[in-house]
Order: sequence, then C-alpha cells, then structure tokens
Amino acid sequence: MESYNTAELRALDAKHHVHPFTDHHDMHRRGARIITGADNVYIYDSDGKKYLDGMAGLWCVNIGYGRTELAEVAKIQMEQLPYYNSFFQSAHVPAIELAEILAEVTPPQFKRVFFGCSGSDGNDTVVRLVRYYWQLNEQPRRSVIISRKNAYHGSTMAGASLGGMQAMHAIGGMPIPDIEHIEQPYYYREGGDMTPEEFGVHAAQSLEQKIIELGADRVAAFIGEPIQGAGGVIVPPESYWPEIQRICKKYDILMVADEVICGFGRTGEWFGSDAYHIEADVMTMAKGLSSGYQPIGAVMISDRVAEIVDQEGKEFTHGYTYSGHPVACAVALRNVQILRDERIIENARDNVMNYLHRKFLSLADHPLVGEARAKGFLGALELVKDKGTKERFDEDGAAGVACRDACADNGLIMRAVGDAMIMCPPLIISRLQVDEMVEKIGSSLDQAYSSLKGR
Ligand SMILES: Cc1ncc(COP(=O)(O)O)c(C=O)c1O
Repeated sequence: MESYNTAELRALDAKHHVHPFTDHHDMHRRGARIITGADNVYIYDSDGKKYLDGMAGLWCVNIGYGRTELAEVAKIQMEQLPYYNSFFQSAHVPAIELAEILAEVTPPQFKRVFFGCSGSDGNDTVVRLVRYYWQLNEQPRRSVIISRKNAYHGSTMAGASLGGMQAMHAIGGMPIPDIEHIEQPYYYREGGDMTPEEFGVHAAQSLEQKIIELGADRVAAFIGEPIQGAGGVIVPPESYWPEIQRICKKYDILMVADEVICGFGRTGEWFGSDAYHIEADVMTMAKGLSSGYQPIGAVMISDRVAEIVDQEGKEFTHGYTYSGHPVACAVALRNVQILRDERIIENARDNVMNYLHRKFLSLADHPLVGEARAKGFLGALELVKDKGTKERFDEDGAAGVACRDACADNGLIMRAVGDAMIMCPPLIISRLQVDEMVEKIGSSLDQAYSSLKGR
C-alpha cells in the first residue's frame, strides 16, 4: 500500500483484478473504492476517508473491526501448526475445540459439525449430505431440495442453484437437477390484500403445494434463510416459519436453515432459528462464525442426520483441503468465545436493538420510503416514487443506486438490492453510532430524492 497512491492502485486493479458481483465497466469508470484499514464500526479508504460500515463488511463483521486478540491467536496458530488437514482420521486441536463450542452455542439437536471455507461450499455440503441421508435410509428417490425464489445460498454450482436469483441461473447452466423454488414471504411487494399473518401462511403453503405436485417421496429437504438477506432483507411474517415447520414435519422433509447471515447474533438471538423457533435438521453457517476475520464455514448436523457419519464401513466421500483449517478454526473459536464471554449478542439485543429499530423505522416518514422494516440488526428501506401505489422509480434500481452513492459520499456504507436499501451494522454499534448512521441515511435519502425528482 505504501508504494502506490490511489490512482495507481485503481489502475492496477482495473488491469488485473476480476471482482465478484461487479459491473467492471462501471467500476473502471469510477475507480474502485480501496479500503485500507478498519476499527470498531468504521472503515477507511486509501484517501483517508472514514465510513461508518452499515453492512458489517459483507454481513459478517459481527464483532466489529480491530479485535487484536483474533490477530494474536492467528499468529500463535501459524507458528505452531499453520496447516494440517482433517482427512483420513487426522485431527487437530483448533478444529476439535471449535466443534465443541459450536455444539454448545447452537440449538440442542446439534452436536456434530462439518467444516468448510465459506457459506457457498457449506451449501454444496448440504446438498450432498441430505441426499446421502435419504440414500442410506433406502429412499434414494428423495433427492429434490426445495428453496425459494429470490433466496441467496451462495455462488458455487449448488449454492447458486439453491438460490432463487434468475440472473445467477442465467450464467453457467443452472439450476442443477432436482432443485425447485417456491414463493418467498415478501409481504411488502407480494402480500396483496392479505394481512401479514394471512400472507405468511399463504407463502408457506406454496411449500405444501410443491410437495404435493412432486410427490413427498421425491423431496429430500427444504432450505431457507430465516430472514432472506441478499434478496433484500425479507423479514417473514411471524406466521411463516411455524407453517413451514408444520409442513416439513407432516411430510417428513428435512429442514435446512441457512444461517450464514442470521447466525451469531444478527437477529438479536444467537441464531435465526432461535428467533423464529425453527427446528432445523441441518444448519449452514459462515460469516459471523469468524466475524469475517478468517474464511471459514460450517454445517451443523443434527442427531437425526448424524447417522450418515456413523455407518460402519461407509465413507462420506466429501471434503475440502481446508476443511477445518487450523488458523481459521483458532480465530473462529476466539471469536465465538468473545461473543459468548462478553455477551455481545445479549448486550446488543438488550441495550441497542430497540433503539436502532425506533430510529431506523422512523425513516419511513421520508417521502422516498415506502416501507422501513427491521429485525435484530438487519433492516431495509423500500424506496418508491409513490408511497400509495408502491410504484418504483424504474425497474433498474435507480433509486437504490442514487441513495447508495449518496451514502458513500456522506461516509456511510449501505447496500442497494434493487430499490431496497439494506443495513446490517456490526453488533457492537452504540446508540451514538446508530444516531450517526440514521442521520447519514436521512441526508442521503434527501439528496437521492432531489436528484431523482429532477430527472
Ligand atoms: C444466506 C447465505 N448463504 C450462503 C452465502 C454464501 O456465503 P459465501 O459468500 O461465504 O460463500 C451467503 C452469502 O452472502 C448468504 O447470505
């Protein structure tokens, strides 16, 4: 970094670096935002500009930036055992200790864990795991996994196939076979004349319709994010998950909770499954597991499903070189210990969450905001041209982009999903920082509103 200035870094970036989920043409025109440092809830760019990170990185820095303890355990682990694998009957201390603490903090049906490097590969593991479960149970026809439109489950072939994003399916021959998608519980846009509770049941019942259409003897599992994150922070009505749970039980279908965003405190509880009383059989986790300080993911396997690993003479032929990487495990372990010992999740829930909601939801009064919604430390603002009809400015998310860019100018990172503005701050955000964030959102909305009106 010392050797290049911002313009030089941008030129090199444009020349050599292919970014995930990026319109490169547009980025090269503006120049990438180059982040060089971070502390607490703030990040800094290569020109020294400070931003409040209202997205916790990419929904992951739950513990906040600058926890030197995590750097120290990484250093110690790298010196002692920088790498060893857990294939072929090997193990090492960080993976064992991380597995132990995960069994403690996750819901009680989970005592076993399979490690990977990300949420995406975790969901690849899920696909193989649930299909293998039914093979071993002599129901090999049960291979269909039902997900939802507009879900996000990662970017690998299986992850993106499980996801319900059409733009992703359009690249690379997806979805892979035996993945089906049902309705999402998106009340603001799809609720029609129903009450939220009626709509929650209605959206959940599209699962039952799909099961009947396919035949229950074909369905292996249902997968869902407790709150759809990348789809636009779709907070389901309270009636939704109990109905999904009832249907899964009725047809004996495995329930997979994708906790990659919701896990480790995002909803104000340790897991989204705790917040919505979801009794999952399998749980995918990543992001908050290490607060993003190391790339690591994990799949929690319930007692019911764990029989697949305990079959005599049978091998689960699956794994990654870096499954249970010792440095990533050591860092994740310390992160989970800090979350637990400092009661970060409970303190955030009890001292800041309601305040955050009050402030954030008050943005619904802005003329550009059709709906403000929040659950835990996740929130969204629906930007509309007309609050009454919910009409958008255009179909290309112009309002979201205008507001997101204004936020960045004002020193705040938010994300735009179409015309929904998303917030997902680190869980250590203070009330004062909430004030700062909401104030900046307010001025950015004003700026976006006047530029949109002028078009
Ligand atoms: C719910 C969910 N599942 C899976 C993933 C994929 O995780 P990763 O990007 O670590 O592969 C994400 C990423 O945002 C996610 O939000």
